[in-house]
Amino acid sequence: MSVPVIAFFNNKGGVGKTSLVYHLAWMFQDLEVRVLAADLDPQANLTAAFLEEDQVLELWPQEGERRSIFGCLEPLMKGTGDIGAPSIVSLTQYLALMPGDLALSLFEDDLSNQWPRCLERDERAFRVTSAFWRVLQAAARKHDAEVILADLGPRLRDWRSGWKDRRDRGPRVDFPLPAGEMRPVGYVVLQHAVRADRPVRAYRRWVERIPTEYRISVLGETDSGPREDRDEHRIALVKHYLSLMPMTQEARKPIFHLTAADGALGAHATAAKDAFRDFRELARAISERTGVARGAFSPASPAG
Ligand SMILES: Nc1ncnc2c1ncn2[C@@H]1O[C@H](COP(=O)(O)OP(=O)(O)OP(=O)(O)O)[C@@H](O)[C@H]1O
Ligand SMILES: [Mg+2]
Repeated sequence: MSVPVIAFFNNKGGVGKTSLVYHLAWMFQDLEVRVLAADLDPQANLTAAFLEEDQVLELWPQEGERRSIFGCLEPLMKGTGDIGAPSIVSLTQYLALMPGDLALSLFEDDLSNQWPRCLERDERAFRVTSAFWRVLQAAARKHDAEVILADLGPRLRDWRSGWKDRRDRGPRVDFPLPAGEMRPVGYVVLQHAVRADRPVRAYRRWVERIPTEYRISVLGETDSGPREDRDEHRIALVKHYLSLMPMTQEARKPIFHLTAADGALGAHATAAKDAFRDFRELARAISERTGVARGAFSPASPAG
């Protein structure tokens, strides 16, 4: 049995994807769901959100093995072997991180080169193409995770179609391959921050296009479908937390763990509390749509 991967990607940069993965990972930890947060974006922002700068640099030594996802992929990339044992960082009893790496962009080149070669039934092409999934599965097993949350880089999103075909026509291999049952779960929108340089009207026009854009680009529908106020594919609207967000980066804590000592006073303290409720509802919505971590939302559980 493989561990489900919930992958997060966006078309537009800087729309709060990494912050979302970070907060959801902490929310699952608070709900006592064993979760692995995986940083597959070569920007490694998720890793930087979880770890202190010194810790991050220790994971990426100039020489020797890198204790990041890149380190696991290196033997495969160099052609000296298959993927190595996963290195994960245990953050709490429930939460672990598969650290990212700036060097990951090198592997992305290999990935795009090997993708067409799967059609030539090349075994290494299958090793490379399935490498991320296999490393994540091994890491999840090590942590005994119930779910994997993956922050994807911008180049890792067009992988859905064509895998089944490659797999069915491919050679017999002695390593596991993902089934390729990739299912779009929906989308999350980040609320607009009132800012002088960006009129609300422009934001609204952009948000209004999302339901149609999602149906066409992600679901592959040709008809844009009805445009309703409440789109079934929209999982949530995430609040813009304004200055609370920089506070989380400073304190290396999710918003809903901020205290007065971290600077969350007065209205900020209330907002931090509300954030717990909002992210819990978001986690619940994802659980309902995916079947992941159902136990956490049963009546007898922390979030019940
Ligand atoms: N809900 C939020 N409220 C306030 N600020 C936010 C929120 N989510 C994200 N931000 C801020 O927006 C900026 C971009 O967020 P983030 O890095 O999460 O986006 P991203 O989509 O992962 O970006 P990239 O495309 O570079 O990976 C960060 O400065 C972050 O603190
Ligand atoms: Mg990011």
